[in-house]
Amino acid sequence: MAALVVVGSSNTDMVVPVRRIPRVGETVLGDDLVVAAGGKGANQAVAAARLGARVIFVGAIGDDDLGSARLADLRSEGIDCAYVRTVTGVPSGVALIMVDDDGQNSIAVSSGANAHLSEEDAHAAADAIRGADVLLAQLETPLPFVHAALSHARDAGRITVLNPAPVPSDGLPGDLLALVDVLTPNEGEAAALTGDDGEPQDLAWALIERGVGAVVVTLGERGAVIATGDGMETVAAEAVRAVDTTAAGDAFSGALAVALAEGSDLQRAARFASVAAARSVTRRGAQPSMPRREEVGGA
Ligand code: RIB
Repeated sequence: MAALVVVGSSNTDMVVPVRRIPRVGETVLGDDLVVAAGGKGANQAVAAARLGARVIFVGAIGDDDLGSARLADLRSEGIDCAYVRTVTGVPSGVALIMVDDDGQNSIAVSSGANAHLSEEDAHAAADAIRGADVLLAQLETPLPFVHAALSHARDAGRITVLNPAPVPSDGLPGDLLALVDVLTPNEGEAAALTGDDGEPQDLAWALIERGVGAVVVTLGERGAVIATGDGMETVAAEAVRAVDTTAAGDAFSGALAVALAEGSDLQRAARFASVAAARSVTRRGAQPSMPRREEVGGA
């Protein structure tokens, strides 16, 4: 069984369905509030667990009811939460999300306990990281925490996957990028990381030149571009009717990491991830939308 350590955020998503995302200064009326489990790290952990991997999650919650509920959700998915720290006197992470009629979203995150994750949290989980096939990380937690986790994985020769979401305002340092075997930005994130707005192939190549092992730029319904030192390839996306694209990137990264942990090459892994992401957008919510293995097939 593939073994993953996922380091990252856990949030409670407060979702308001709206006909269209309001402009600055505008109020729109939406449908009933939906409260669901989210957070890029926890979403990716759930994606991987539902696809059949053994998953250890390293993260943080506050000492409040929302945090307890999110921890219970993760445990109910069979995820090992021994390295989830409860930060006292701090709220758990919350995301305010609007989803429009086309399934597109707008998200503001209050990090809460997620912002308290430090290098020490990564060091505490070092043995788990070193014992996994793949380390999977995102950027909703502080960079020193992500950097330390990537370092432990790299030292042990494990595969490292970074979903660079959200991109920090001052980008990512080269020494962190150099620890990444596979980077999974969407088009906007690839543009933000490179400071360019060219074609996805050019953005991917610019990231390879900055020291990343391989790049998979996700393009939503247009599929994905895979770039390695050896060349470029594209992967088509299945045509589906999207009702909510929230966490499609998390479904993609979680599935990609599972396939790599099972020994698939990057092309195969990207095709598997693309199917998982397509399934996820046909359902509402972040963690509730993550597909199970029987819906996605073999990697
Ligand atoms: O990627 C989607 C996630 O981003 C949501 O679940 C929300 O919590 C934010 O972290």
